[in-house]
Amino acid sequence: MHLLVTGAAGNIGSRAVKHILAQGHSVTAVDIVPLPSSLQLPSGSIYLQVDCTDFHAFEKALLQVPCDGVIHMGAIPNPISGHDQRTVHNVNVVGSYNVLRTCADNGIKRIVQASSVNATGLVFTHESRRKFEEFPLTELSPRVPEDAYSLSKTICEIQADSICRLFDDVRVSSLRFHMTCDEDEAIPRGQRGDLWSWTSMDSAAEACLLGITANEPSFQRGHEAFYILHDKLFLGKKSWEVERGGYDAAIANGMDPDTVTAKELIDLYYPGTKVKEGWFSEGNERRSFFDNSKAKKMLGWDHVK
Ligand SMILES: NC(=O)c1ccc[n+]([C@@H]2O[C@H](COP(=O)([O-])OP(=O)(O)OC[C@H]3O[C@@H](n4cnc5c(N)ncnc54)[C@H](O)[C@@H]3O)[C@@H](O)[C@H]2O)c1
Repeated sequence: MHLLVTGAAGNIGSRAVKHILAQGHSVTAVDIVPLPSSLQLPSGSIYLQVDCTDFHAFEKALLQVPCDGVIHMGAIPNPISGHDQRTVHNVNVVGSYNVLRTCADNGIKRIVQASSVNATGLVFTHESRRKFEEFPLTELSPRVPEDAYSLSKTICEIQADSICRLFDDVRVSSLRFHMTCDEDEAIPRGQRGDLWSWTSMDSAAEACLLGITANEPSFQRGHEAFYILHDKLFLGKKSWEVERGGYDAAIANGMDPDTVTAKELIDLYYPGTKVKEGWFSEGNERRSFFDNSKAKKMLGWDHVK
């Protein structure tokens, strides 16, 4: 297969490219910035410097080598990177529409786009408004974004719904990644604002490819969003500030970050939130606050470290 990957110079895009190449496929690697020196493309694969907000440029790149599918990772990945909030919104929303529409117009039937756990409104939602109807969150939980980034991810998913209504042979997988990194990466993870979860780089890269290759009969066309994240809650290995409700906060509250249960965290940080019967039952006391079973069923994906 030949796949076009946008955001190929970025964290997830570059890992997805390496994974795709390792599986014997070739790529058109697209980004607004050059690829890192750690990512060398073999013959048969090409790099093109393209801004996805320019649809003429993207279309030209798409037509350069016939493609079997497109993986769109090129975006501004949070609202706190120093960009104007309007830029965060516009780059993400316009880039996604350009990619989806251009692919559909040119007969590309399998598309993957990066979404985020923030499509529901999460990490960047003001503390006072971060409330949930029920745990675990599923792909059907209400989307209530308030910041530019989370809104852009919600809109990217809605755009995919609309493209798949218009082109009934197109399939789009929106992958809701969480904080994505390698297991040994020395950054703190797991805080109350993101419901103590994360995604490994390898799992994200695998989901990108499966979004194109998975052949579950019930998912041949149309748009689906998928939670791509770990099965278990995780408070990290290093410390956030206590007020972030992670590793340090557990210790400050007399809990062991490695054994604290979901129920204890709910009582402390989200008291009164409904929990699906049996979700945190005996043996599942440290299960994730997100249900990732849809990706397992429809993409044949699983979380790996
Ligand atoms: N990393 C995470 O923890 C995480 C979590 C949830 C969702 N996501 C989503 O996954 C995707 C990839 O994230 P990442 O962590 O690899 O981010 P990243 O910043 O490392 O990579 C994004 C890449 O996109 C490129 N890019 C930006 N605007 C572009 C444009 N207009 N045209 C072409 N390329 C453009 C950037 O140059 C960069 O190389 C993003 O959509 C992000 O929102 C990431």
